[in-house]
Amino acid sequence: MKVSLNNIKKYYDEKLVLDIELLEIEKGKITGIIGPNGSGKSTLLHIIAGLDEEYLGEVFYDQEVTSKKPYDKMTLVSQKPYLFRRKVYDNIEYPLKVRNINKADMRKRVNKVISRLELEELREKKAHLLSGGESQKVSLARALVFEPELLLLDEPTSNIDPESIKILEREILRFNRETEATVIIVTHNLEQSDRICDNVIYLEKGRVNY
Ligand SMILES: Nc1ncnc2c1ncn2[C@@H]1O[C@H](COP(=O)(O)OP(=O)(O)O)[C@@H](O)[C@H]1O
Ligand SMILES: [Mg+2]
Repeated sequence: MKVSLNNIKKYYDEKLVLDIELLEIEKGKITGIIGPNGSGKSTLLHIIAGLDEEYLGEVFYDQEVTSKKPYDKMTLVSQKPYLFRRKVYDNIEYPLKVRNINKADMRKRVNKVISRLELEELREKKAHLLSGGESQKVSLARALVFEPELLLLDEPTSNIDPESIKILEREILRFNRETEATVIIVTHNLEQSDRICDNVIYLEKGRVNY
């Protein structure tokens, strides 16, 4: 999915926190968003994800007008993931369950993601008892399982140990290459963006710096 932003302005109270004339996110690529704390990265992702509709300007998905956001084709993994008080397996299965996918297929897809992200040891654990890093891994698994056309990741490896970072980066890349989904990833880690991003956008005080 291609995403284009046109004359986006976002205010909190009187303060302009996002001011983007034109931004095009290339279809099928991994785009990194880098910028200091408070530069508007999370705000931008929420707007693209359709979770924040209080802004001026337009967001286009595959050139279409925004009146109907393609909620079913995109997902955001937020900085502080919310997991249900159920088993890890059930949390990962959930996006497929609400889409009425048949049971055998569902099991296959959940097991594939668990195996690829190396989450076998967590599968029977209660999700609300996981550490921050473990929750991040599970919420990435839950996003990957339904194969969105647009995957939005807000600092997905901020709480994660180096060994697990390797696994997540490998799987984000593999997901992008296999499905040709568009991925947007907010990261503080310049080495990470070098490793996995095709394009990088710098945000500063709500503006894009090329
Ligand atoms: N709900 C809110 N109410 C008021 N101000 C907010 C709110 N959320 C974010 N902000 C402000 O908007 C700016 C951008 O925030 P954010 O997008 O979270 O930055 P980043 O993700 O780059 O750290 C910051 O100055 C932040 O304080
Ligand atoms: Mg943020």
